[in-house]
Amino acid sequence: MIRTEGLTKVFTVGFRGRKVRALEGLTLEVKRGEIFGFLGPNGAGKTTTIKILTGLLYPTEGRAWIMGREIGDVSVKERMGFLPENPSFYEYLTGLEFLNFYGQLLKIPYDERLHRIGELFSLVGLEGAEELQLRRYSKGMIQRIGIAQALLNNPEVVILDEPMSGLDPLGRKEIRDLILRLRDEGKTVFFSTHILSDVEMICDRVAILVKGRLKAVGPLDELLGGYVKSIEVTVRDPGGVFEEVKDLAERVIRREDLLLISLKDEETVERVIEVVRERKGRIHSIVPQRLSLEEYFVKMQEEG
Ligand SMILES: Nc1ncnc2c1ncn2[C@@H]1O[C@H](COP(=O)(O)OP(=O)(O)O)[C@@H](O)[C@H]1O
Ligand SMILES: [Mg+2]
Repeated sequence: MIRTEGLTKVFTVGFRGRKVRALEGLTLEVKRGEIFGFLGPNGAGKTTTIKILTGLLYPTEGRAWIMGREIGDVSVKERMGFLPENPSFYEYLTGLEFLNFYGQLLKIPYDERLHRIGELFSLVGLEGAEELQLRRYSKGMIQRIGIAQALLNNPEVVILDEPMSGLDPLGRKEIRDLILRLRDEGKTVFFSTHILSDVEMICDRVAILVKGRLKAVGPLDELLGGYVKSIEVTVRDPGGVFEEVKDLAERVIRREDLLLISLKDEETVERVIEVVRERKGRIHSIVPQRLSLEEYFVKMQEEG
């Protein structure tokens, strides 16, 4: 649905013509029907990428395609929806007037427009707010009416730049639920965020961008799966297990006849299982402790 190849953007700033390399050879592919999280700290180049995809900026180098068409192509815009970062809309319009205005710009015929707008108010959970002026909308409501605006042309691909930023936990959840609903409607959603938990909960795949460079891409559990910190084994010890495993483990916590054993690799896990068998104990659980996205993110940034 979205493909980029070697996208690079160099900004020239100030009268001395200093160069800022905002994006370095980004090559990426987003598949049909997936929720794709574009993750990176502030200044990573997320908005720059999105502006290139939406035709607001030209890349210095590289190319990009949406639904197989090169991004300059006008027919691409007709099938794509876009929510900019920190949108601000004309405050004195009501929600209904706002969507109607954009619907007119898109030349959607009157009856169809009203019908579509009605559907969108309910899809984004803003029923009842039709007649309210946008200045009375909360930040979360603004994001949601902005998403409704992005959906007016019933696009196949929806690109959202930081749709959860500045929202409280409930507002974030509402946007997450809305994104899931978009996927259920068969849309492909590409959204950026600098907040890890946003992607953790809903994304099929994520890309991690740091200082303009792609650091990793894939399903989140695969990205994190490669990094096991320790393996936590819980066993019932009828007697004797504790003494035998305490030197194999990084840490053992004993609570009555239960042992919580922290091990550092698979081999020691095998060894502990043998001991438990010999002593006629029982294994309750074996849980690998993976790096949290938070820790992964820090690691990526440290690697530069
Ligand atoms: N119009 C511009 N002129 C000069 N530098 C820019 C411009 N837009 C973005 N940048 C720089 O490019 C880098 C990436 O910015 P941006 O794409 O906005 O990052 P993100 O959205 O990930 O926070 C930053 O260093 C930013 O300062
Ligand atoms: Mg940004």
